[in-house]
Amino acid sequence: MKYDFDTVIPRRNTQCAKWDLSEALFGSREAIPMWVADMDLPVAKPITDAIQKRTDHAIFGYPERAPKSTIDAVINRIKRLYNWTVHPDWIVFTPGVVPALYGLIKALTDPGDSVLCQGPVYYPFWSVINNNGCLAADNQLQLVNNRYEVDFDDLENWFKPKGSLFPEPSRIKSMILSNPHNPVGRVWSESELRQMGEIVLKNNAVMISDEIHCELLFKGFKHVPFATLSEEFEQRSVTCMAASKTFNLAGLGASVIIIPDPEIRAAFARAKNGIMGGVNIFGLTALEAAFNEGDEWLSQLLEYLEGNLQLVKTFLNEKVKKINLIQPEGTYLLWLDCRKLKLSASEMMSFIKNEIVLGMEEGSLFGPNGEGFIRMNIACPRSVLTEALNRIQKAVDRNF
Ligand SMILES: Cc1ncc(COP(=O)(O)O)c(C=O)c1O
Repeated sequence: MKYDFDTVIPRRNTQCAKWDLSEALFGSREAIPMWVADMDLPVAKPITDAIQKRTDHAIFGYPERAPKSTIDAVINRIKRLYNWTVHPDWIVFTPGVVPALYGLIKALTDPGDSVLCQGPVYYPFWSVINNNGCLAADNQLQLVNNRYEVDFDDLENWFKPKGSLFPEPSRIKSMILSNPHNPVGRVWSESELRQMGEIVLKNNAVMISDEIHCELLFKGFKHVPFATLSEEFEQRSVTCMAASKTFNLAGLGASVIIIPDPEIRAAFARAKNGIMGGVNIFGLTALEAAFNEGDEWLSQLLEYLEGNLQLVKTFLNEKVKKINLIQPEGTYLLWLDCRKLKLSASEMMSFIKNEIVLGMEEGSLFGPNGEGFIRMNIACPRSVLTEALNRIQKAVDRNF
C-alpha cells in the first residue's frame, strides 16, 4: 500500500510532548516543533492493526516475559539485516533505551568513575553519567571537511594515568557510543568501530552501543552493529535497539537490550530490579508487528526522508548561505552549522525562539563543541518543512 506522509495530522492535545510542550519550551504557540526525535508521520498499518487486535481482548494485566513470537521477531530481523545470531537469553526488554542506559551505567561503574562519550551527543547521555555519580570523559568528535570524525588519539589518552607527581590510573569502565550518531548523523564505518572497540576493550572497558537509529539510513549507508565485529566485541558490549525510532513508536515504551555476557546481564538485572518494570504490552505488540511487517512502510519512509533532506540541502545552498548543512548519513536529525552567524549559545537560543520561531535545540545542549550549531528534526510533512525553511531564511535575511 502507498502511505501518505504529506497530509498534516494535528498533534496538539494528543499527549504529545513535541507539540504540547512547544510553547513552554520555545516561548510561543507559533513555534513549529522540530526538536524531540519523533515523527509527525503516521505509522505502518500492520502496527495499528496489531494494536487494535490486542485491544479486542479487553484485559490488560501485568505482562509476563515477552512472548516467544516477539523474541523471534527481534532475532529474525537482526539475523536478516546484519547476519548476527542473537541468542534469546541475551535479550532484555526495557521500557526505553534511556532507562536501560541508567541501569547499565549503574551496573558497570562505581560513583566517581568516568564514562566515555563523544560530544556533541544526545544530551541524556550526560545526565545518565552524572546522575549515576560518574564523570563524563568527553572524547569530542572532530569536524573535518564538513564531516565528524573520532579523535582516536584522544580516546587512547583518556585511559592513560592522569597527573604527573602521583599519576592516578584511569577509572573508565565503559563508553556510551551513539551509532548512528545523534546529532551529527554519522553512521560509523566498520573500520572506525573496530578502532574504537580495540581501544576500549584493550583497556578492559565495556562498549554500550546505542543503535536506536540503526534503520534510519540515507542512501548508500550501511549499519554495522558493534557486536558483530568479533566474538570479543560481542561479549564486551551491550547493544541497545528498538522499534521506537524507526517505526515512530516512542510513546509505547519498548526497547531491546542485547547483553551476551551473563555477568553483565546479571549486574544489569540487579541494577534495574524494582525500578524498571515489565514492558508495556502494546509496546511489545507494536514492536513485533513493526519488525515482522513494517518493511514496506519503512522503505517509503526512507524515500520521503531522502526527499526532505534534499529539500533542505537545496534550500540552504541557494537561499541561506550562512547556514551549512552537515551532510547526514543516518537519522532524521539534521545538524546545521550556524557558526557564521557568530551567536553565543544564549543568543542562538533567543534567535531560534524570537526570530526564526521554530522549536529547535541550540547545539551546546549536546556538549560544549555543539555551540554554534542547531539540531533540526525533518521527519514531518514536506509542507511543514517548507514553512520552517522559509522562516529560517526570513530570520537570517532580517538579522544578518
Ligand atoms: C541516541 C538515542 N538514544 C536513545 C533515545 C531515546 O530512547 P528511549 O525513548 O527508548 O528512552 C534517543 C531518542 O532520541 C536517541 O536519539
